[in-house]
Amino acid sequence: MLVALVLMLLALSNEGRVNGERGDRQCEFNPSLSPRPHSVSILEFGAVGDGKTLNTIAFQNAIFYLKSFSDKGGAQLYVPPGTWLTESFNLTSHLTLFLEKGAVIIGSQDPSQWDVVEPLPSYGRGLEVPGGRYQSLINGYMLHDVVITGNNGTIDGMGFTWWESFRSHSLNYSRPHLVELVASNDVVVSNLTFLNAPAYSIHPVYCSNVRIHNISIFAPPESPYTVGIVPDSSDHVCIEECTIATGYDAIALKSGWDEYGIAYGRPTENVHIRRVHLQASYGSSLAFGSDMSGGISNVVVEHVILDNSKGGIEFRTVRGRGGYMKEIIISDVEMKNINTAIVATAYCGSHPDDKFDPNALPTLDHFIFQDIIGTNITIAGSFAGLQESPFTNICLSNITLSVNYASSTTWNCSNVSGVSDSVIPKPCPDLDSPSKYSSSCFSMLSMKGKTAVSGMVSMK
Ligand SMILES: *[C@@H]1O[C@H](CO)[C@@H](O)[C@H](O)[C@H]1NC(C)=O
Ligand SMILES: *[C@@H]1O[C@H](CO)[C@@H](O)[C@H](O)[C@H]1NC(C)=O
Ligand SMILES: *[C@@H]1O[C@H](CO)[C@@H](O)[C@H](O)[C@H]1NC(C)=O
Ligand SMILES: *[C@@H]1O[C@H](CO)[C@@H](O)[C@H](O)[C@H]1NC(C)=O
Ligand SMILES: *[C@@H]1O[C@H](CO)[C@@H](O)[C@H](O)[C@H]1NC(C)=O
Ligand SMILES: *[C@@H]1O[C@H](CO)[C@@H](O)[C@H](O)[C@H]1NC(C)=O
Ligand SMILES: *[C@@H]1O[C@H](CO)[C@@H](O)[C@H](O)[C@H]1NC(C)=O
Ligand SMILES: *[C@@H]1O[C@H](CO)[C@@H](O)[C@H](O)[C@H]1NC(C)=O
Ligand SMILES: *[C@@H]1O[C@H](CO)[C@@H](O)[C@H](O)[C@H]1NC(C)=O
Repeated sequence: MLVALVLMLLALSNEGRVNGERGDRQCEFNPSLSPRPHSVSILEFGAVGDGKTLNTIAFQNAIFYLKSFSDKGGAQLYVPPGTWLTESFNLTSHLTLFLEKGAVIIGSQDPSQWDVVEPLPSYGRGLEVPGGRYQSLINGYMLHDVVITGNNGTIDGMGFTWWESFRSHSLNYSRPHLVELVASNDVVVSNLTFLNAPAYSIHPVYCSNVRIHNISIFAPPESPYTVGIVPDSSDHVCIEECTIATGYDAIALKSGWDEYGIAYGRPTENVHIRRVHLQASYGSSLAFGSDMSGGISNVVVEHVILDNSKGGIEFRTVRGRGGYMKEIIISDVEMKNINTAIVATAYCGSHPDDKFDPNALPTLDHFIFQDIIGTNITIAGSFAGLQESPFTNICLSNITLSVNYASSTTWNCSNVSGVSDSVIPKPCPDLDSPSKYSSSCFSMLSMKGKTAVSGMVSMK
């Protein structure tokens, strides 16, 4: 009851913020969660933590039992130290899944044991293989008030066999994720370690009020297209104090794929990311898109460390996506050992099928990059917009990137316009007009809020 009340107040205060100045400062609400009045151990359901016994039925039965506490303040499922092998299972509302120190949930590696579920409506098909997709290891569907936490317990997807099947093109369906929450509200994921996801580690899709705090995510550098956290067509998301190192992107914001994402029309908005340390071997530390057909807006990223990645901050889209990426503020960034520090490209991404509309042009507008310092950077920035839909209102301020060798390709720009102030090395002429900087970007910068953004003086 108390949890419900706190969450309701949280929801109300969020509403207040959306209409106020700082709808995108999600992490500033940090409700204290009351402990659940009931707790049971997975041992009571016959689970065996030897790493060999399959515990799927134990998890399913435990959660089915705990459903009956939904209207009694909810309940906790306690996972003690041990290695708990399981196939996919579903969570329920008003549940806390708590993994004790030394508790490791490991995913079964035999695809024939995994359920196949329908594609997400905003994607129209599986991401990697047309048709259905394997259900994720831990799932939530239309839930309310769910907490996945612990004392640094571990959820290990044992992705090796999935990566091998992906590489050898022998997957029958698209790979599962570690944790997927669909159409759920008031979700907390914290105080855990996530390892070796088959594809994504944490995928909130069509969710509201998601708080991801103090987690570590690791997947080997060579693991194909593994992504850490993917807020997808979700709003009011806070990601803070996380350490992520993956094969592809560390954090990627998305919102659906071409005609399916346009028809579904649910944006990712009001996202706040701060105090994270990201590393992404073959992708980008912080990525937006390329699936962004429902739109991405009002994102604030601050106090982040990005290192040893191919890209630092990357915006990807392509003709046929439609949608928009706008009102995005990124500040206080430290980058190290990165090939391209800032990328925005309208030439990246494939299509779900041949029914996409080539005239659905994505727009990118109102971005601020501020207070960024980088060392051992190869290319400072690469911007490639579409001729019919150039990137607009890009503001660059107080950026110092130590480029590891001087060359004419330090900045590479086409079909982009914006302004800059105190940027080293000197940006391409399309972005280099310090005199216009303060009039164009100042109001957006000084308030860093929604009101300020919409009051921004338009740039020529
Ligand atoms: C888990 O949820 C999915 C999606 O709602 C459903 O298709 C599946 O049958 C559920 N599995 C179990 C074991 O309840
Ligand atoms: C982060 O989680 C660990 C356990 O995983 C815990 O010991 C630590 O106190 C947490 N830190 C914060 C700031 O919540
Ligand atoms: C949690 O465990 C992982 C290894 O399993 C470790 O890298 C990380 O530092 C630990 N986090 C905390 C907060 O103790
Ligand atoms: C795909 O399906 C075929 C035929 O059912 C099966 O032999 C193969 O093992 C499956 N591949 C994977 C990776 O599950
Ligand atoms: C995570 O750990 C911190 C520090 O121990 C604690 O304050 C916080 O409540 C924990 N988070 C959850 C959701 O239990
Ligand atoms: C510079 O960064 C590249 C990756 O972009 C890395 O391979 C190289 O080792 C780094 N150099 C130093 C001196 O750290
Ligand atoms: C410029 O950015 C650096 C961090 O990269 C920060 O320490 C410094 O205070 C900023 N300078 C101004 C004038 O804001
Ligand atoms: C600049 O970017 C374009 C794509 O937008 C690419 O084709 C070209 O090779 C790049 N130029 C250099 C010198 O890197
Ligand atoms: C837009 O980009 C294309 C391809 O790089 C280039 O040919 C064209 O000149 C650009 N248009 C403008 C207005 O910069």
